[in-house]
Amino acid sequence: MMVCEYKPGLEGIPAAQSSISHVDGQKGILEYRGIRIEELAEKSSFLETAYLLIWGELPNKEELEAFEHEVRYHRRIKYRIRDMMKCFPESGHPMDALQASAAALGLFYSLRDLHNPAYIRDSVVRLLATIPTMVAAFQLMRKGNDPVRPRDDLDYAANFLYMLNEKEPDPLAAKIFDICLILHVEHTMNASTFSARVTASTLTDPYAVVASAVGTLGGPLHGGANEEVIQMLEEIGTVENVRPYVDNLLQRKAKIMGFGHRVYKVKDPRATVLQNLAEQLFAKFGHDKYYDIALEMEQVVAEKLSGKGIYPNVDFYSGLVYRKMGIPTDLFTPIFAIARVAGWLAHWKEQLAENRIFRPTQIYNGKHEITYLPIDQR
Ligand code: CMC
Repeated sequence: MMVCEYKPGLEGIPAAQSSISHVDGQKGILEYRGIRIEELAEKSSFLETAYLLIWGELPNKEELEAFEHEVRYHRRIKYRIRDMMKCFPESGHPMDALQASAAALGLFYSLRDLHNPAYIRDSVVRLLATIPTMVAAFQLMRKGNDPVRPRDDLDYAANFLYMLNEKEPDPLAAKIFDICLILHVEHTMNASTFSARVTASTLTDPYAVVASAVGTLGGPLHGGANEEVIQMLEEIGTVENVRPYVDNLLQRKAKIMGFGHRVYKVKDPRATVLQNLAEQLFAKFGHDKYYDIALEMEQVVAEKLSGKGIYPNVDFYSGLVYRKMGIPTDLFTPIFAIARVAGWLAHWKEQLAENRIFRPTQIYNGKHEITYLPIDQR
């Protein structure tokens, strides 16, 4: 057997062949099925981009309308799922609530027919349609309110904001939210996508695939960083405090949240688009002093860490956008999941097409030939 060098975090080791997305980390380019994200952010919608990623081609008008229609009419969640969610502790993190609810869908749709394109399509539609409803439902129920029913006359992003805030969103906020979903939908072999593919490779159901990926996304080194960025900006408090704060972190060899990336060695192109969206929101709804702190931080970190290729990543500006929309900080990562579910499903489908179960090896560095010691001699 070929012996490979051990690389912590599997850095640089291909885990799959994929035609879903591509990153050029030196040039700061991200493409979905070959199309640059900046172009999709400007011209596409989240559901159209999801279709592109999952089925490999942009849909024509009829295909897109049919897909949007199916997703729109599957947004309601079963009352038993809602009742289950009512029992979740309100102090629980919304990512844990989402993981449990996504997994619970598998109880209701237990037929597993992975060779049937209709099963694949139904699962994709159901997950894309219900995940936003579950995120909004948990948010309202933990405040002691009943969840609101989805509105069929609103599009994907506007309906989510409506379910969350119990009022119709401003059109600019809904449009910007939809673009945020496009920017978060897919990103090559990141930790949660890898987790989704490993789970998919066992031929389990897509709800287990999504639940495992949601669990992986929640950590502070992955999707959870966007919450920590806002907490950090609040802790810094003023522009003057930025430099000493960064110096202190670097002295302690601590990571600065929202900066650095395994692949990008320049500014993450998603951060550039998000920064622009944040500015549009500030122009319409008023300035946010935390944006000034963020700008200063970007400059100070560039001064100190550009030599290591550490620049803002997707999480640095996304929190400021969501904050301006009045979204609670601990919903930032569930929103990341609402978008990323389409990427995970694209990888689920691709994995099934040429499946081989993931079964890597390890380098054993433990002991051998140890004799069992009876408990009274330990
Ligand atoms: N602040 C300070 N130093 C950093 C940072 C940072 N945010 N990120 C990397 N470095 C340094 C690190 O200390 C190391 O320096 P040295 O070589 O002197 O020891 C070098 O850069 C390489 O770091 P690494 O930890 O080996 O890099 P990695 O590829 O294993 O980690 C990362 C990538 C994203 C986990 C890391 O940059 C990080 O922890 N960033 C902060 C958390 C964050 O913003 N996460 C969101 C990532 S983007 C969205 C997503 O994928 O979900």
